[in-house]
Amino acid sequence: MPSLSDRKTLHVDLGVRGYPVIVGEGILGDLGMLMHRQGLSGKVAVISQPGVFELYGDRVVHSLREADFDITPLLIPEGEEHKNLQTVEDLYDRLLAAHFERSSSIVALGGGCVGDTAGWAAASLYRGIHLVQVPTTLLAQVDAAIGGKVGVNHSAGKNLIGAFYQPRLVLSDVTTLHTLPERELRSGLAEVIKYGVIRSSSLFGFIEQNLEALLSCHHAGMQLVVSECSRLKADIVQQDERESGTVRVLLNFGHTIGHALESLGGYRQLRHGEAVAVGMAAAARLGSRLTGFDEADLDRLVRLLKRAGFKLDPGPWDESEIIAQTHRDKKVHRNRVNYVLPRAFGEVEPMVPVSDEEARQALLWLRAEGGKS
Ligand code: GLY
Repeated sequence: MPSLSDRKTLHVDLGVRGYPVIVGEGILGDLGMLMHRQGLSGKVAVISQPGVFELYGDRVVHSLREADFDITPLLIPEGEEHKNLQTVEDLYDRLLAAHFERSSSIVALGGGCVGDTAGWAAASLYRGIHLVQVPTTLLAQVDAAIGGKVGVNHSAGKNLIGAFYQPRLVLSDVTTLHTLPERELRSGLAEVIKYGVIRSSSLFGFIEQNLEALLSCHHAGMQLVVSECSRLKADIVQQDERESGTVRVLLNFGHTIGHALESLGGYRQLRHGEAVAVGMAAAARLGSRLTGFDEADLDRLVRLLKRAGFKLDPGPWDESEIIAQTHRDKKVHRNRVNYVLPRAFGEVEPMVPVSDEEARQALLWLRAEGGKS
């Protein structure tokens, strides 16, 4: 059993909706005790996918059993195509058949898809039962599990059905990252690099210096990075819980072109982080033209992204297709797409109107630059 010093506890301060985020090594076995400390008891559904449950289900179930929870494991199919209302409907059926009550809990054990789907089931059953996020991917640990965005896809688009519904606890065990496929780990690393650009030049420098250790999932470095990103995300969520101001939107740095590429690839060709890496390079180039981002810093970012193994080429789609896709973004105003652009490491501007011609120039630059080693 790890000692308290093996973990770091952060808080998302949202008054009555506030909760701890606990990051550590080998702490899955503490889940039951930590949920108890949050005042949770009784029935709990562990919602997961078969692959993740096979790896970590026993440890989680054992820990919950030791803390006297009444456990119902519920597996949902793998794949973004199952993040929909049909899967949620099946979950409702099984939760109702198991006589879940308003005081019951859902533990979401897995990556972003599990957290979003299980989170939406928790938010909507009886108008809200308790939710605990136990993210097992880097992407989910540093982003999706914190901040309460839950929801599912609709045939008309991604994440169109959902809510802001804060969990009661987030538990991130960095040892679960050990079993992540390398491509998945890299994809998460793009979001980590993003935090460096938008919020912390020292985090950016740390990643530059420790990239290889992080890619090999060196625990001490990884725990530090997950804690730091969790702290940064908690701070953003505290300032702008429902993305109604200009703070939470900063998390969209790299996502305007990133989302366009993901969507053009049918969400199958590129991992989220791979698309965001291309989007960050394009946004940084735009920043060097429009918001005073230093050329030397643009070089630093491009070099780091390449070292992390990202292909920065925008892919088989021509510039006009990509730009047309960015116009579907929710941040379009008067036919100009608003981007999040950097001014310096740790400092970004949230809503910079970018013309199609400026975006086209950035994509052309990326095609040339992305191919260089
Ligand atoms: N993943 C972006 C957000 O939580 O706002």
